[in-house]
Amino acid sequence: MVIRVALTDWLLDRAFGNPRGILGNVGGRVMARTNDDAARWVVSLLDLAPTDRVLEVGFGPGVGIELASAAASEGFVAGVDPAKGMVEQARRRNATAIEAGRVELRRGVADDLPYADGTFDAAFSVNSMQVWPDAVAGLRELHRVLKPGGSVALAFTPHAGGSRDELPGPLARAGFERVRIREQDEAFCATATATK
Ligand SMILES: C[S@@+](CC[C@H](N)C(=O)[O-])C[C@H]1O[C@@H](n2cnc3c(N)ncnc32)[C@H](O)[C@@H]1O
Repeated sequence: MVIRVALTDWLLDRAFGNPRGILGNVGGRVMARTNDDAARWVVSLLDLAPTDRVLEVGFGPGVGIELASAAASEGFVAGVDPAKGMVEQARRRNATAIEAGRVELRRGVADDLPYADGTFDAAFSVNSMQVWPDAVAGLRELHRVLKPGGSVALAFTPHAGGSRDELPGPLARAGFERVRIREQDEAFCATATATK
């Protein structure tokens, strides 16, 4: 029983949480089909202006990046994800916008974002924060790279394993205010504003 649970956890981590190898590639394709509604919802909650600068952390196969770059059509969308295979999938999905210089995708992690203070108007993440090793450190980094008054949205689908009760505390500790938890179908999303 213990072995079966450990194996399942290992497989889920390799396919979805920290996608690697063949399982990660398959996981990326699955996530592109199953998480697109959540990504569409999060991007709509951010109410992006065409010229906004937007960051997604843990973009996986890059569906959220694609939707954000359609909304911020005259702006700039950046993304950070540590998984090599996800960066490759997302770059393929967003090749035209990358070529046009409107999208930039890098390997990296939430708690060490390769951007200067106050770079972005909005930041978001879908089904990713639950696998960051230190959620508050990641949220502090998001807060740092947002402009004062910038928006953050953190969404979770039912199978992701995040807990809505564990969002307000870390967001407040990272310096965000006006935290609101929204729900749609069985997904939930925390939105908040960066104070400086
Ligand atoms: C469950 S997948 C979600 C992917 C995508 N956002 C979606 O909804 O389909 C989690 C993603 O978070 C990324 N990730 C894992 N650890 C991370 C970290 N420390 N910082 C940022 N992203 C991370 C993984 O590489 C993976 O692409």
